[in-house]
Amino acid sequence: MLSGRHVVLGVSGGIASYKACILARRLAEAGADVQVVLTAAAAEFVGPVTFEALTGKRPLTSLWEPGSALAHVDLARDADLVILAPATAHLLARAAQGLADDLLTALLLARSGPVLCAPAMNDRMFAHPATQENLRLLARRGWRFVGPATGPLAEGESDQPGRMSEPEEIFAWAERQLRSGGQLTGRRVVVTAGPTREALDPVRVLTNRSSGRMGYALAAAAFSRGADVLLISGPTQLPPPYGVETRRIETTRDLERAVAAAVREAHVLMMAAAPADFAPARRHAAKRPRADGAHTLTLEATPDVLAGTRSRRRKGCVCVGFALETGDGIHRAREKLEAKALHMVVLNHADQAGAGPEVETNRATLVTREGTEALPLLPKREVAERIWNTVESLL
Ligand code: CTP
Repeated sequence: MLSGRHVVLGVSGGIASYKACILARRLAEAGADVQVVLTAAAAEFVGPVTFEALTGKRPLTSLWEPGSALAHVDLARDADLVILAPATAHLLARAAQGLADDLLTALLLARSGPVLCAPAMNDRMFAHPATQENLRLLARRGWRFVGPATGPLAEGESDQPGRMSEPEEIFAWAERQLRSGGQLTGRRVVVTAGPTREALDPVRVLTNRSSGRMGYALAAAAFSRGADVLLISGPTQLPPPYGVETRRIETTRDLERAVAAAVREAHVLMMAAAPADFAPARRHAAKRPRADGAHTLTLEATPDVLAGTRSRRRKGCVCVGFALETGDGIHRAREKLEAKALHMVVLNHADQAGAGPEVETNRATLVTREGTEALPLLPKREVAERIWNTVESLL
């Protein structure tokens, strides 16, 4: 997803330097061309060979290496993004002052393009007015920041910010910075995900096998394309995607309320949730003992959340529904396009290996008014990217 993009990863010397290895690897895996630049202190924490093995490129460490006299100027000009992770208090102070006493600070002084900075330091050093003033100054100059987070520091537990954000979070913001600019950038996107849970009594519930993975992948992919994403999620085991506002719901009725409130502002409504179609007509106040023997449950149909948004949708809102069918579902998917006034139905084939609710991959067919596109078996994140490609063409 980042192929052809040039990234400079500047690493300064703190205990979080080792986490920069994970970030370097994520960027390289995503296809970016990663040039690591180490300060002298960073090279004490993590050897350049480690970064070379992860990125396939020798890290630069000094202004004085033969053959790299103008490296700082070239890299400052050519990089699509400069990431600083970790950025120590000392590095921030030098950058704020415009010092250029090593390769990394010289590069920053020559840089006019985007810089994404992940500070990491002792919590009191972070709170110090000198550091805070440097951060404000750098933010005014256009730098973007991720973190710092709160959590354990090398010196022990802390409830104050100082710890570097996790590499995966820095990666998510870097990816967004590098991929923004398309149709989704700046648009409000509402994604629903996961199952719903309908209570029979205080303990037992009626639910389904949806894991939420497809919806979470869609939310993360939309965030990486620069969208302003609201994820409305039923109960899942998944961590909320970075940068995405996540609202938890339990029942189909809850989902209906949350979607109704959000859809007025939405440029895109992506209904990947698998809400229960039926809920118990009556919720028992107490747990029914087994000794009471067999009993009959009466179920009532829940509202069709997606169809119910029709009168509330923002003008021009692109609406996508999902359908899980066995056999040839294309005909049924087309009926749903009409019945629910949708722009696209993502048809999942319930009876095919590698597709469906509990696996990491999916095999989907995108059904629009213009035609159908059968996707091969792909990881859910890849399926999400294909879905957004089609949505962007419809916006
Ligand atoms: N959906 C919804 N409200 C429901 C059930 C489903 O909004 N109570 C949405 C799902 O999020 C999904 C699409 O509708 O986007 C699923 O449609 P489908 O699988 O066809 O479910 P139904 O419309 O209930 O149709 P069927 O009779 O085939 O079950």
